Amino acid sequence: MALVRIEPNDRVFIAGKTGSGKTVLAKELLTPYPYVVVLDNKGRFNWPGAGLVTKLDLLPKAAQKYNHIVFRPNPLLEADAAAFKEEMDAFFWWVYYRQNCILYIDEASQPGVIDSFHIPAGLNVIYKRGRELNIGCWASSQEPVNVHNTLMSQADHFFAFITQMQSHRDKMAGYMGDPVKYTIPRNYKFFYFHPATMDEAEMMEPLQI
Ligand SMILES: Nc1ncnc2c1ncn2[C@@H]1O[C@H](COP(=O)(O)OP(=O)(O)OP(=O)(O)O)[C@@H](O)[C@H]1O
Ligand SMILES: [Mg+2]
Repeated sequence: MALVRIEPNDRVFIAGKTGSGKTVLAKELLTPYPYVVVLDNKGRFNWPGAGLVTKLDLLPKAAQKYNHIVFRPNPLLEADAAAFKEEMDAFFWWVYYRQNCILYIDEASQPGVIDSFHIPAGLNVIYKRGRELNIGCWASSQEPVNVHNTLMSQADHFFAFITQMQSHRDKMAGYMGDPVKYTIPRNYKFFYFHPATMDEAEMMEPLQI
């Protein structure tokens, strides 16, 4: 089995501990798609050719100029939980009204904002109604246990790199099946699972970078 083609409006979830290869994979797979907006809360998504935006109100202008955009909110905002929440929600609504693009959230566990209990309204709408608007949703996380179920239950493609804690593997296995529970991918290998085919999750060789 090889990777199944990811349609522009598909949902994708990528799990793995820090340094396991999530961002590298996402960058590699996202590059061919014409319109991509990355939410880079970690400030480490450097993407040659993409427009880097640090202020919400500059997004519309950047979208006129660049097909690939990295939105990197001011890290100081995170210290003010209410302001950060507001910024995230406004960002997701902007993506929703923009349409025709893939949203990639590079670390989808943001305590109190996007976690197992909270999902911003705009993001919820993107996941639930974005398909018709041709919005793809991709998210990755080091901590699947702390990710909102919507981001996983809607996924059409799952990628699982090495995760250390059994609780994370158990959560992924809930979606991807038993192989993910008991086998740990090493050296940038990863499990891939495409729920629509019902084939077992399969261990894939590392991307050649
Ligand atoms: N397929 C690969 N082949 C060889 N090296 C790789 C591969 N994937 C990742 N790496 C190496 O591992 C490093 C970390 O990868 P990456 O940034 O994708 O991790 P991550 O899972 O996003 O981690 P974090 O959760 O900390 O953001 C890369 O900078 C690269 O050096
Ligand atoms: Mg990363």
